[in-house]
Amino acid sequence: MHVKIHKLFEVLLQTTGAQPEAALGLSMAEPPRLGEFLSGLDPNLGLDWSGQSFQGLPALRQGVIERMGLGGRCSADDVLITAGTAEANFLAITQLLQQGDDIVVDTPGWPQPLVLTEAIGANLRHLTRREERGWAFEMAELEALVSERTRLIFLCNPNNPTGHVLSEAELLEVVRIADRVGAFVLVDEVYAGLEWHGPRAPSIAGLYERGISTGSVSKALGLQGLRAGWLVTPNRTVLMDAVILRENTSEIMNVMGEVIAEIALRPERYAHAIRKARADGLHNLGVLDAFIQARPELSWVRPQAGLVGLVHFDRSISSDELAQRALEAPFRTFVIPGSAYGCPQHVRLGVGGGATARLELGLERFGALLDSLT
Ligand SMILES: Cc1ncc(COP(=O)(O)O)c(C=O)c1O
Repeated sequence: MHVKIHKLFEVLLQTTGAQPEAALGLSMAEPPRLGEFLSGLDPNLGLDWSGQSFQGLPALRQGVIERMGLGGRCSADDVLITAGTAEANFLAITQLLQQGDDIVVDTPGWPQPLVLTEAIGANLRHLTRREERGWAFEMAELEALVSERTRLIFLCNPNNPTGHVLSEAELLEVVRIADRVGAFVLVDEVYAGLEWHGPRAPSIAGLYERGISTGSVSKALGLQGLRAGWLVTPNRTVLMDAVILRENTSEIMNVMGEVIAEIALRPERYAHAIRKARADGLHNLGVLDAFIQARPELSWVRPQAGLVGLVHFDRSISSDELAQRALEAPFRTFVIPGSAYGCPQHVRLGVGGGATARLELGLERFGALLDSLT
């Protein structure tokens, strides 16, 4: 299997090291510092593997089940701790999908399944999210795309890059369509926890026997560098297949990531972190929304969840050029071109990162860039 580069990674490769003075591209909450966890760490902790289970620390797996609201539907035995959502997606997709299978993927959405599908030689069926429908897709279109050849449906919910959220009733509709042909449903739930209007997006692992939920502490908790994520499924074959593939890639979890993630998911600490992330996120989204409303050339569907949204711009310049110009002097501001998601008239703007992102400065600079184009 040979994996080719995707546009989004090209952008990240080119911009890492560019040292922007402001960022309008960040998708995660302000990262906590190591010092905030020191009091909970045992200085005698061995830096060998915990040796407790190939699925990861039992206490961490229990924390995952509780924070995801899966108690009573799934158990800690249904969880595999992984190196982030990225590894969890990789393990599930590469073990489930064979050359010639069909996979349905929501678009715009997360590029990882697109890249892996091509490398595997499987057939990609795009499920189109429509801006005029608030970035929802049509269930009838999903129904038409799914056939006996469909092995897997991959959705990103809450969605990156649009912030659209599927309700439980809609997810059950997806389940009905998948179950008709015995397809698996993998939902990347890495943005769960920052829903602005309703409850946490329900986890597919609790709704379907062939449901697979992936997620991590990266976004709502801002702990991306821990590389602590999970794959949750009631399907033991899928879980064991993932354990077997992981044994042949990174073998086991990194012990510091597991230990700190377990602390981060303890009820009080988690509640506090989510309260802060929600307050910061809502405030920043309000600032971004006001900026967009004040500029006639910009429009967006305000995200229902998460810290990123796709913003349409009415200027005769490509999103690649716009993002490139934004990064250069005098603007020095990081934004992600919509072309990375197949949307060349959009930019992905994000309001994560807390104070370090310098949101107001970024918006001022981005506004000045747009002014310079008129
Ligand atoms: C939708 C989506 N899935 C997965 C990832 C990777 O996250 P993690 O750090 O949990 O591997 C990201 C990161 O941006 C993402 O946006």
